[in-house]
Amino acid sequence: MTVIAIDGTFASGKGTLGKGLAAHYGFPYLDTGKLYRATAKRVLDAGGDVTSSVDGTLAAKAITADDLSDPILKSGPIGAAASKVSVHPDVRTALFDFQREFAANPKTSGGILDGRDIGTVICPDADVKLYVTASPEERAKRRHAELTGYGEVLTVEDVLAQLIERDTRDSTRATAPLKPAVDAHMIDTTGLGIAEVLAVAISICDAVLTR
Ligand code: DC
Repeated sequence: MTVIAIDGTFASGKGTLGKGLAAHYGFPYLDTGKLYRATAKRVLDAGGDVTSSVDGTLAAKAITADDLSDPILKSGPIGAAASKVSVHPDVRTALFDFQREFAANPKTSGGILDGRDIGTVICPDADVKLYVTASPEERAKRRHAELTGYGEVLTVEDVLAQLIERDTRDSTRATAPLKPAVDAHMIDTTGLGIAEVLAVAISICDAVLTR
């Protein structure tokens, strides 16, 4: 079983990279951000409060794979709520087994997970750990294009402000903060296209996996 862990900042391109690597190696892919987004959506749908650990944990315990396909999960407000609900340690514990079972599925020869704490907490023994980032300005431009594509009305400056707030919350929370694992390979995607980022990542993975 080969596990590739991808962590990184908001809108750094880690999801696109995860899907690209999954297609290249033929492994299943899990966007773990969707677990936190789906948890936040369940809390909001029930009229709860994402800053409440009790509301968040109740929602996280109910998450199944069926929750992850709703296109609304990709929206800006759900992403912001996901960042808030993800600070609760009990929410993270409730979502732990789903991620570990994906990474250790005996029916597959490998798995690719992306998130914030994959290489540090969920899969500390992953075969390859990648940490992806890009300049805040470039990430804001990319995310702005994506959100306006979904019909959301906001400026690049709005997205930049949200992104800085999100990076700060994700990397300063007490439990499983966003940070590179000590043995992660760093990829800065600023100025790189999708194919270039994928080529860099494949060369890192091939080098590590054939060692
Ligand atoms: O990657 P994303 O934007 O879909 O993630 C949404 C939020 O979920 C992110 O701001 C922090 C949280 N998250 C997390 O805490 N741990 C993960 N492994 C993935 C996401």
